[in-house]
Amino acid sequence: ADEKIAMPVGVTLDRFIKRNQEAFPFATGELSQLLRDIALAAKIVNREINKAGLADITGEIGTSNIQGESQQKLDVIAHIRFMRALRNGGEVAGIVSEEEDSILFTGNDDAKYVVAIDPLDGSSNIDVNVSIGTIFSIYRRKSEIGTRVTESDFLQGGDAQVAAGYVLYGSSTVLVYTTGCGVNGFTYEASLGEFFLSYPTITMPEDGTIYSLNDGNLHDFPPQVLTYIDKCRRRRYSARYIGSLVGDFHRNLLKGGIYFYPPTVKTPNGKLRLLYECFPLSFIIEQAGGLATDGRQRLLGVPIRSLHQRSPLCIGSKKMVEEVEQVPSMIR
Ligand code: AHG
Ligand code: MN
Ligand code: MN
Ligand code: MN
Repeated sequence: ADEKIAMPVGVTLDRFIKRNQEAFPFATGELSQLLRDIALAAKIVNREINKAGLADITGEIGTSNIQGESQQKLDVIAHIRFMRALRNGGEVAGIVSEEEDSILFTGNDDAKYVVAIDPLDGSSNIDVNVSIGTIFSIYRRKSEIGTRVTESDFLQGGDAQVAAGYVLYGSSTVLVYTTGCGVNGFTYEASLGEFFLSYPTITMPEDGTIYSLNDGNLHDFPPQVLTYIDKCRRRRYSARYIGSLVGDFHRNLLKGGIYFYPPTVKTPNGKLRLLYECFPLSFIIEQAGGLATDGRQRLLGVPIRSLHQRSPLCIGSKKMVEEVEQVPSMIR
């Protein structure tokens, strides 16, 4: 049942999930409960983030993750909060997180789903009060119910996602997700502890005048990117890059625009991770009418062979991504 159920702005996330659930007779409610568990964790992380600067939760924790990044305290706090909510919710059999090298087994071996997550995206912005986010991606497991999940449950490929979404902890806290029937956004009202539908059926503008990339890497960029951003400059487009993928993505989704993270000398395969950054945001953007590539092919079709595999990413309004594709490949 792919029809998009029109719902009034202001309906709660719970009510929205319930009505969507009723539209899928075969669904038995586990995915709905999983989405609720994610929303709960988002509320808890939101509360922690709002204390940054007061409670001793900013700065580095002194450890580093498999990415070779020094972990921020809030990276780990967000990671723990999402792990706990997903384990206790009972609907998730295993989790892959940016902050953990290998699969986290929840003990719910009878659960149907696995989740890949970037618990806190834009960590470099935590201590300076710039918007940060969480990105998540959900797959139905392939391995037998009752057994422990395996790596192949997470390596099914971008098109196998059953749901994907993000939370943006910004001037307001919004949760945006898709289950393959369009994209909807919800705004959190902390005094009521509820998310309310605020962006029903998000459709991305086909074109835009905003481009996002880290200009500091200019001398590393492949010719294709240089050619395109030169056109943006000649057209007097706006350069907007905040260093939090979720923040740049959400603005471009609503207003139209394009975000690049091309290969650089430091990150020859791009910096962003397929499983919990590129795939989920590419699922969302295609559902909203935009496009995503790795500079050569449709991003959701990029073969994934390892849990923390990186990929170049070009993601945004349809016409903008198509124009970039007309010049030779972004991959060296
Ligand atoms: P994370 O904080 O989850 O590691 O992700 C950071 C990513 C992304 O959010 C952001 O757009 C990009 O890194 C910024 O990278 P540069 O500072 O290299 O531009
Ligand atoms: Mn990181
Ligand atoms: Mn990230
Ligand atoms: Mn992160």
